[in-house]
Amino acid sequence: MCGIVSYIGDQDPVPILIKGLRRLEYRGYDSAGIALLDGSILSSVKKAGKVSELSDQISSNTIKGSCGIAHTRWATHGIPNDVNAHPHLDKTGKIALVHNGIIENYDAIKKTLESRGVIFKSETDSEVLVQLISELYYNGDGKLDFKDSVKAALQEVVGAYGIVAMCSDEPNTLVAARMGSPLVFGVGDNEFLFASDASPIIEFTRNVIYLDDGEFVIVKGSEYSISNINSKEIVTKTLTKIDLTIEEIEKGEFPHFMLKEIHDQKHSISDTLRGRLNLDDGTSMLGGINDHIPSILSASRIYITACGTSWHAGLIGKHLIEEYARVPVHVEYASEFRYRNAIIDANTILIAISQSGETADTLAAIKKSKEAGALTLGICNVVGSTISRETDAGIFTHAGPEIGVASTKAFTAQVTVLIMLALKIGRKKGVSLYRGKDLIKSLKNIDLNVTDILKGINKIKEVAKSTFKANNYLYLGRGVNFPVALEGALKLKEISYIHAEGYPAAEMKHGPIALIDKDMPVVFIAPQDDTFTKILSNIEEVKARGGIIITITDKENDALSSLSDFVLVTPKTHKYVFPINSSIILQILAYELAVCRGCDIDQPRNLAKSVTVE
Ligand code: G6P
Repeated sequence: MCGIVSYIGDQDPVPILIKGLRRLEYRGYDSAGIALLDGSILSSVKKAGKVSELSDQISSNTIKGSCGIAHTRWATHGIPNDVNAHPHLDKTGKIALVHNGIIENYDAIKKTLESRGVIFKSETDSEVLVQLISELYYNGDGKLDFKDSVKAALQEVVGAYGIVAMCSDEPNTLVAARMGSPLVFGVGDNEFLFASDASPIIEFTRNVIYLDDGEFVIVKGSEYSISNINSKEIVTKTLTKIDLTIEEIEKGEFPHFMLKEIHDQKHSISDTLRGRLNLDDGTSMLGGINDHIPSILSASRIYITACGTSWHAGLIGKHLIEEYARVPVHVEYASEFRYRNAIIDANTILIAISQSGETADTLAAIKKSKEAGALTLGICNVVGSTISRETDAGIFTHAGPEIGVASTKAFTAQVTVLIMLALKIGRKKGVSLYRGKDLIKSLKNIDLNVTDILKGINKIKEVAKSTFKANNYLYLGRGVNFPVALEGALKLKEISYIHAEGYPAAEMKHGPIALIDKDMPVVFIAPQDDTFTKILSNIEEVKARGGIIITITDKENDALSSLSDFVLVTPKTHKYVFPINSSIILQILAYELAVCRGCDIDQPRNLAKSVTVE
C-alpha cells in the first residue's frame, strides 16, 4: 500500500528518495512522485507506473533541493495516473504533501473549499488536505504559521493518515504527522528521514522513533521536536535501535524476493523456535505472554482475527488450540469482526495475527476487543509495528523481513508460533508429557524437512510446466489441511492470476465437482493420517471425472501413485507440523506456475503487502 519517504539533511535528497521509493515498491503501488524544496523553490515530478519511470524522468528533467518528500501511491480515490499521484501541491504551488491513508470526510471539505474558489486538479482525498492547509495558512486571519495550519487542518479531517508536508515559505523544514497510518522517523547525524517502514531508513541511521497516533513532528535544519496534533505540548519519545540488515531486505542471488523467502524457511522457522522449546518438560517458553497465562487458562473463548494469509494461519491455530487446550476458538476476518456484534468480555482472549503489524482492519478489531475488556495478544513479524505495540502482550515470529507481496516465510512462522502456543496452554491444561515431547521432536527436525522439500523443486517445476495454461485450479484438504488448501489457492491467485479455490475435500461434492473436467488440476493435500482413507475416496471421485490430480503427501503408496498424475512427497512428520511442509510445496508450486506465465511475482497487480486502509 502507499509508501512515504522523506529526507532532510546534508546530502542530495534525490538519490536517497529514489532509492527509498524502490525499497517501498514491495508494498504495492501504481504511481510515484517526488517534490523537492530548494531554498524557496518547490518543484515536483509525478508519474503513473514504476519508480524506474519516475527516475528516468527526473534525470532528464533535473530537479534539486535540500529536502524532499516522495511517495508510492496505491489508488483508493481516483484512477492511477500522473495527476492523482503524490505529492499533491496546493493552489499556490508553495505547499507539497504526501499522504497515506484515507480522508473520510474529504467530500464535505472539498465542497466547502470549492465554494471558496479552490480548483482541484486531482480526484484524490489527499489533495483536499493540502488545499485545506493552504486555505488555513494563506486565507486565515494570519495567526497560524505553516506548522499550526497543518495541525489545524488535521483537526478538521476524519480518517487515517500518515503525512509529510513542506512549504516554500519555510525552507529546510519538514512537518509530519500520524493517525492510523504507520510512520517511522529516522534520526541520523544532521539528517532525518520519515518513512512508512524502516526499509528506506536503515542505510542512514539505525535510530528511529515509531510515531504514535496523534503525534506531530517538525524538523527544521538539524533540530526536531515532537508534539501532539491537538496541542503545543512537547512529547518526549525514546529512540529505538533497528535491528535489520541491508542483506535481509535485498534479494541477493535470487530472481525474486518470493523465491528467496521460500528458501529462507530453511532457517526462519527454527529462528522462530529458537530458545522457546523445552524438550524435557514437553512444553514451550513464550516470555512475551508469561504474565498473562492465568487469564489465558481461565478464558471461556478465544477469537483469532487476521486478514489474508494470516487468517489462514489462524484457521490452523484453531485446530491446534482446540486439540491441545480444549477451549473454543473462533477465527474471524478482522474486516467482519470489527463490525459485528461478537460476544466479547473479560473472559475473552483475542489473538491478532499480522505479518506487518499494520493491517488497518486487524488493528480496529484489536481496539474493539480491548474496549470490550478482552485480553489482546499479537502474533506479529515486524518489531515496533503498531499491532505489536497496541496489543497487551504478544509473541513475535522471527521470520525476518518479508518483502515479496505473497506471504511465505511469515505464514510458516505464524503456524510455528501457534503450535508453540497450543502446546504451552495444552501442557498447563493436562496434555501429557509424551504428547508434548512428540510434537517438539518433530519441530526440532523442521530445518531438515525444509531442506528436503527444496531439493524436490524440479519435480514441482514439472507440475507447473504441464499445468500453467489451466484457467482454474482446485485445492482440497481435510481437517487441519483444509486451511492449507485455502492458502495454496490464495498463493496461486495472488501471483499467477489463475483462478483457484480451496475447499474441504468432502464438500467438493456439494458444488466444485461440477467444474471438474480434463483441464482442471486438482491439488489434494493428503497426508497419511486419520483422514487418509476418506481423502483417497475424494481422489477417486475426481479421477472418475478426468481431473488432473496432484497429490501432496508424506508417504506415497500404490493407490496414490495409480490415481495421481503427480505425487509430491514431503518428509514424514507430526500431523500438526505437516501443514508447514505442505504449505512450502504449495508456495513453490504457485511460484513456478507464475514463472511459467511470466508474471510480476514480487509486485502482483493491484495487491499491497500491507493494507493500511480499510
Ligand atoms: C495483504 C497481503 C497478504 C497478507 C494480508 C494480511 O493482503 O498481500 O500477504 O496476508 O495483507 O497482512 P498482515 O500483514 O496483517 O499479515
